[in-house]
Amino acid sequence: MDIEITINGKKIITQTGLTILEAASRAGIKIPVLCYLKRLRPIGSCRICSVEVAGIEHTVPSCVAKVKEGYEISTDTERVWDIRREALSSLLLDHPLDCPVCDKSGDCDLQNLSFEFGLTKQNNKRLYPDRTNIFKSGHIEYMATRCVLCSRCIRVCSDMYGNPFYEIKGSGYDGYIGLRHKDETTRGVTSEGSSFKENKAGDDVLKCYYCGNCIEVCPVGALISIPSKFKERYWQESPFSSVCDKCSAACRTEYYRYEHEESLIRTASLFGGYLCRAGFFYDGIGKNNGYYIASPYIKKKSSAVESGIENAVGEFVARIKNISANGGLPDTAILVSPNVSTNEGYAISGFAGNVLKPAYFDIAASGYYRTNMLRFKTLFEGEETFDIKTVLNSEAMLYAGDIEGEIPYVAYNIMKTHREHGGKLFLVNTGGKERPDYLRRFEDIAFARQDVGAASMGEFFDSLKSGVHNSGLKNSGVMAENLLNADTISILLGDKLFSSCDMSADLQILKEITNFLRGGQKTVYVYPLIKPFNYRGLVGAGINPAPGSDFNKILSGLNSGKIKNILYIGDVLNDEVSREIVKHASGLEFLAVFSSKTSILSAMADVVIPIKDFLEGRNAFYENFEGKTISVDNEFNLGGYRTGIIPLLMDISGRLGHSFDYINREISEFTGSLKAKSPVYYNKSKARSNFYYNDKTKVYY
Ligand code: SF4
Ligand code: SF4
Ligand code: SF4
Ligand code: FES
Repeated sequence: MDIEITINGKKIITQTGLTILEAASRAGIKIPVLCYLKRLRPIGSCRICSVEVAGIEHTVPSCVAKVKEGYEISTDTERVWDIRREALSSLLLDHPLDCPVCDKSGDCDLQNLSFEFGLTKQNNKRLYPDRTNIFKSGHIEYMATRCVLCSRCIRVCSDMYGNPFYEIKGSGYDGYIGLRHKDETTRGVTSEGSSFKENKAGDDVLKCYYCGNCIEVCPVGALISIPSKFKERYWQESPFSSVCDKCSAACRTEYYRYEHEESLIRTASLFGGYLCRAGFFYDGIGKNNGYYIASPYIKKKSSAVESGIENAVGEFVARIKNISANGGLPDTAILVSPNVSTNEGYAISGFAGNVLKPAYFDIAASGYYRTNMLRFKTLFEGEETFDIKTVLNSEAMLYAGDIEGEIPYVAYNIMKTHREHGGKLFLVNTGGKERPDYLRRFEDIAFARQDVGAASMGEFFDSLKSGVHNSGLKNSGVMAENLLNADTISILLGDKLFSSCDMSADLQILKEITNFLRGGQKTVYVYPLIKPFNYRGLVGAGINPAPGSDFNKILSGLNSGKIKNILYIGDVLNDEVSREIVKHASGLEFLAVFSSKTSILSAMADVVIPIKDFLEGRNAFYENFEGKTISVDNEFNLGGYRTGIIPLLMDISGRLGHSFDYINREISEFTGSLKAKSPVYYNKSKARSNFYYNDKTKVYY
C-alpha cells in the first residue's frame, strides 16, 4: 500500500512493508551500513545505519525498522552521525589495523567507512584482549582479530544450508566466530601478555561444504580464501564477468585476474548470487605453474619433449596418415570434452565427419544422456527447455538422483524453496548410503526418503504409479499420497539417474503418472538434469555418433582392446568418465590430446597441442542445463603458443589434403542460428560487483 513519509524534509511516496533503508535507497538517499547485506536476513546489530524518526526517543537501525505513514525521518543529523561514529570507533578499539598485510585491503567496508566517517584516531587500542581463535581448514582462514561480529557469515551459511557451521561465541568484546557445537575452549596468554582462546585439540577443524560464500560476504578481512591469500593487492586486479564452467548451471561469475602475470586470483558471484565450492575456489585460482599446458609436446622414447606448434601438428598428421585406411580411421575414437563451446563443437563435428572419419566419435560423457534425452523429448515434447525457478513454488517436489552430488545451484534452489515456501521434498536417492555426516542437509529436511538403486528405478516408478492411480489415497504410499494432495508438483530427474541407465521404460511410466496428475488439474513439472557443462550444446552442434559408435561403445572398445587410437579434444575433466579413459590409455597405440590444462591424459599422450582455455573464449556459445543458450566473451589471454580449436582443425585438414576452409562460413551461419535463439549474454558487466551500490538496479546496497 502506498504511504507518504518525509526523509530529510522531502516528501516521498513509498510502500508499506519496506524498511527505512529500502525506502531511502529507492529515493536515492544513501545510508551507511555494515552488518546489512541485501541478500541476507537483516539483524540490525551494528547501528551504523542509525537514523532519527520524529517522535521516537532513540535512534533506530534503518535496516530493520519499517516505514509507517507520516514518518519524518532524518538520516543526516549531527546526532545520527555521532552514533554511527561511536559504533564504528568501538569496532576499531581492538582492531589490529594490519591493512598492509590484509587481503581485503582496498575492498574493506571497515576501511571505507572509517575513511568516509573521518576517523583518524584509534582510541584505547588493545584495551580489550585479543580474540584470537583461528579454526583450521585447507580453504578458509579466520582472523578473529579482524572480525566485526556482523554475523553475515552465519546468515549466508544458514541461507545456503539451513544449518550454519558457525556461531558467535563469547560475548561483547570477547566475542568471536567459532565452530558450531564445539564449545570446549581453553584460555591462554601469549608471550606478549594478551589473552586468547583456543579450541581443544581436534575441535578446531572446519568441516563444511567450502562453498566460500562466508568469505565473499565478510565485510572485512576476517575470513580469507587460502588459495587466494597474498596473491595480489586488490587494486591490481581487473575483473571480467562470465559464467562458471564447472557444471551446466553456468552460474554468473566475476573473474578477477592479475594482469601482470595473466593469472586468475579469485572469483565472486555476480548480482548477489551464490557459487558452490567448485565455482568459488575455481581450479585455476592462483595456479599458473603446471596448471596450463606450457608448450606443445611430442613423446620421444617414452618421455614428452617440448616442441614447437609446427612440429607437433606435423607429428600428429604423420601419425594419422599412418593409421588411416580407406579414407577413414578404424580402431580410432575422437572424444570431445563436454566443456567445449557449441560453435567449436560444430567445427569438430564437421572435421570428424568429413575429414578424419573415425570409427567412433562422441562427447566424453555417458551415452545414456543422449538416449534418455531423446526419449524425454519424445514423451514430454517442448518440456526439455525450462526454468528451474518454477520449482520454487511447488508444494511437492520429488528429486530422483543424488541431490548432494549433482548440480549445486539446483540443490541450493531446493534448499531455498524449503526455507521460504515450505513444501514437501521427497528424495529418491540413487547416490549410495555412505556419506560424510555434513552431507545430510537434505535428508534432514526431506519429508520422505528412499534409497533406490538406479537399476531398480523402474520398480519404484511402477509402485508410485499404482499409488497415484489409487485415488482413494489409502495405501497409496506416502509419496503418492502427498503428490495427490498437492496442486503444484515438480519431478526432478537427477544427473546420476540420467547418466547411469537407459530410462526409456521409467520415462514412459513417469509420463503416465504426469498425465494422470495433469488430468486432475494439477500443475506438474518434469525436469531432466544433465550436469556436464555444455553437453546439451554439443548435441545441438551435431556431435551425435552413428549407431554403435557412441561413448558407451567407446568404453567397451577400450576395455576389449578394440580401440587403439584416441584423439581427445578439450579439457579433460576430473570425473568418473575421464578416470575410465585414463585407465585404458596406457594400452593405446596412439593418444593425442588438444587441451588447455594439464591432466593425467595429457601426461600420457604421444602428441599434446595446447588450445585456448575457456577463460580465453571470445564470442563463444554454450547451452545450460535448462536448455538456455548463453554467450560469453571472456577477457583472459594466456599467451601466443595456444591455438584456437577451429584454426588448428583447418591447419590439420590442409596438411591432410582436405580443404576445410568452408567451415568458417558454415560456422558463421550456425552462430547466426544460435543468436536467433535469443541467447543470454554474460559479459555485459565490466565493473566490479559492489554490495554497496548495485550498478544493475541503480540502488544502493
Ligand atoms: S567473520 Fe566476517 S562475516 Fe563473520 S562475523 Fe566476522 S566480520 Fe562478520
Ligand atoms: S564455506 Fe560455505 S558451508 Fe562453509 S562455513 Fe562458509 S558459508 Fe558455510
Ligand atoms: S553450481 Fe555449477 S556453475 Fe554454479 S558455481 Fe557450482 S559448479 Fe559452478
Ligand atoms: S544495524 Fe543496520 S547495517 Fe548494521
